[in-house]
Amino acid sequence: MQLQTAPLTQWWENSIPVAKHPLQKEIFYDTTQNKVVVAGRRFGKTVLMIEECIKVARTVSHAICWIVEPTSSDAREIVWPNLLNRLKYLGVKFKANNTSCSVKLINKHGNTSRIYLKSAEDKNLRGRGLDFLGVDELEKVLDSKPNLWEQDLSPSLVDRKGRALLISSPKKRGQIKQFYNFGQAEHPDYDPNWKSWKYLTIENPFIDKAEIEKKRKTLSPSAFRQEYEASFEDDADQVYIEFDTNIHIKALELDYKLPLYLSFDFNVRNMTTSVCQIVNGKKEPYNNEFNMLIQEQEKVVNVIRSIHTDGGVISTQRQCDEVINYLQRINWKGDIYIFGDASGTQHETQSSEGNSDWEIIKNNFTEAYYSIPTTNPRVRNRINAVNMKLRNAANEIGLFINKTGCEPLIRDMEEVIFDKSGRIDKSLEYKGFVHNSDNVGYMITQEFPVKKDNDVLLGWIKL
Ligand SMILES: Nc1ncnc2c1ncn2[C@@H]1O[C@H](COP(=O)(O)OP(=O)(O)O)[C@@H](O)[C@H]1O
Ligand SMILES: [Mg+2]
Repeated sequence: MQLQTAPLTQWWENSIPVAKHPLQKEIFYDTTQNKVVVAGRRFGKTVLMIEECIKVARTVSHAICWIVEPTSSDAREIVWPNLLNRLKYLGVKFKANNTSCSVKLINKHGNTSRIYLKSAEDKNLRGRGLDFLGVDELEKVLDSKPNLWEQDLSPSLVDRKGRALLISSPKKRGQIKQFYNFGQAEHPDYDPNWKSWKYLTIENPFIDKAEIEKKRKTLSPSAFRQEYEASFEDDADQVYIEFDTNIHIKALELDYKLPLYLSFDFNVRNMTTSVCQIVNGKKEPYNNEFNMLIQEQEKVVNVIRSIHTDGGVISTQRQCDEVINYLQRINWKGDIYIFGDASGTQHETQSSEGNSDWEIIKNNFTEAYYSIPTTNPRVRNRINAVNMKLRNAANEIGLFINKTGCEPLIRDMEEVIFDKSGRIDKSLEYKGFVHNSDNVGYMITQEFPVKKDNDVLLGWIKL
């Protein structure tokens, strides 16, 4: 027996979808030539992009319209089926070329307009005579081609005074802010041909609020603000922005019943190891010695000791000796889990002993358990994971650093910054910074990875 289920209504199955989404509607009916929309994930940006593009293609005689996506799979798997479904629903006469992702359609004047889906991966993005240019997720598009707007895209709008719609989730120190400023009447860079909007994801009336609340728990507050609240987060350069000396530093005791976690980072100038334990977080909120209300995550990392060696002969063996020395001082007999920089196995930092870093470690800690991935996590993921552990968006703390014996790590937490290009400022390495927080990040990413943000957006699209 076949069950009869009522089909879900998809966004395109409506004569004017934007009419149901007041903020999309405001943007859609605005007639400014260049429009900029900064909005969090799942606000409805891509739907708006498709609707604006079809509007121009249907109303402008012989229109040529482009939508540029960050990757060809975004164009092919997300936008393309949505576009075709929408054209079909509207009853527009069109011919689609699946190979080039382009559509020829009959417009309201009875002649043909064309829509092309492009991506930042395309070799040539120098268009001519465009009537509409939509760039979706502009920050991601410009990530791979930073000069794309000035060099290729904006000149293509000159001949026919085409319309631009630039849409993006925000990014710290990204470029969309500059376009956004063009569209703000009170900003010194204001240009009356531009108008801009900034919205929160939760302002999408079609979004499940519970889903957003779930995300709060898995992202750090700053990542959440950036991704879901369209904040540019451009105020701070500090890498570990969730770190707060009044919250994260306290006197920690070893628990001899729990295992020790050692996390190593290998470098030419210095070697660093963090000695940590993972404990159950306290269930009830409490005030700490600074009278700050602390709520803890389910699992909490206690960094007991930060072992940093520099000066003299730097070697993996010397670092092992320092660590063994420390373990003897604390009379450690329990289990040891080891984490660290995966590339240690490849570049053999300064192992005069002829062994790779990891072989040396294994020879020194024969009884330990190892958790070394074959490749390192992406730096961004590692930083996010550490920030998330410091404090998640639900305001829960998941990392404490010992008041004594962890000075190198505390300095890193406070002082490691991003450089102008948004990467970790490596010039600080000379001062002995950077690597203490790196190593703790390897352990945290292994044990508490920031869950991949499985955007369900348009997931049903795989027809
Ligand atoms: N006007 C609309 N009517 C119905 N559903 C919509 C509308 N706009 C967006 N949605 C729904 O909201 C979700 C997110 O939309 P999308 O455009 O993919 O967001 P974004 O590109 O901002 O991440 C989709 O599931 C889409 O179906
Ligand atoms: Mg989108």
